Amino acid sequence: MRLNNKVALITGGSQGIGRAIAVRFASEGAMVAISGRGIEALNETAAFITAQGGQVLVIEGDVQYKEQVEQMVDRVISQWGRIDILVNNAGVNHPAAFLEITVEDWDWHMNINLKGTFLVSQRVSLEMVKQKQGGSIIQMSSVNGLAAEADQAHYNATKGGINLLAMSMALELAPYDIRVNALCPGFIETRLTKPLIDNPPAIANYLKTIPMKRVGQPEDIAAAALFMASDDSSYMTGHCMVVDGGQLIKLA
Ligand SMILES: NC(=O)c1ccc[n+]([C@@H]2O[C@H](COP(=O)([O-])OP(=O)(O)OC[C@H]3O[C@@H](n4cnc5c(N)ncnc54)[C@H](O)[C@@H]3O)[C@@H](O)[C@H]2O)c1
Repeated sequence: MRLNNKVALITGGSQGIGRAIAVRFASEGAMVAISGRGIEALNETAAFITAQGGQVLVIEGDVQYKEQVEQMVDRVISQWGRIDILVNNAGVNHPAAFLEITVEDWDWHMNINLKGTFLVSQRVSLEMVKQKQGGSIIQMSSVNGLAAEADQAHYNATKGGINLLAMSMALELAPYDIRVNALCPGFIETRLTKPLIDNPPAIANYLKTIPMKRVGQPEDIAAAALFMASDDSSYMTGHCMVVDGGQLIKLA
């Protein structure tokens, strides 16, 4: 098992990509704390992990708020005494044309995707520095953090910011043996992408942009996250890893 006895906190761990990461990490021996909004989905994922023989802790909390983030991290520390791995996965995306994005919409994306990532990262990093045992932090970015997609200016900006945050953190936390990397998925089948997947002509058209001609699965991303969390990537930090079926390499 590649994460034996490691303690991992996964934000947005109740569903989609975060759920797949939590399930995979637990199957590799990690104790996983999953946080997010909506207790039902969190409990359902926790029950699944427990049924597979994994150890899991459920924490309801909103990453936009410093006090809730502090409570979230404190819960993990009081349960297991430390945090070795953090996956900042919680995120939202409501597409809108640039000329129509409202200030409220802009702030909502920034507060959850970018400020939330900062708040959890800083609080967990302080713990990792105190622990003196290093750590691995994975920032869930997107191909939208590396190239622009129409009707996503606010989302694209948060993901581009996350990539630079990961590099900045990697630079300052390397002396503490804390590695920080960004994971950039392409189009993955989750609740976020369901409207397009449920529209056959639209998804057939979209698949033309993906050389591998298939939609990614949350498990594809969980496998990459496992590599980034484990000692297999022990010399990798400040890197943005793309997992997208080749979408970004295609010019037209
Ligand atoms: N699905 C894709 O194609 C895709 C592609 C690239 C990147 N991503 C990124 O992957 C991450 C997960 O996306 P997904 O597709 O699994 O989405 P999802 O909607 O299925 O899951 C999002 C998770 O984030 C949590 N969350 C949302 N707002 C929160 C908040 N304020 N505080 C705490 N938790 C909150 C939800 O409870 C849920 O657990 C996001 O950061 C997203 O931007 C997704």
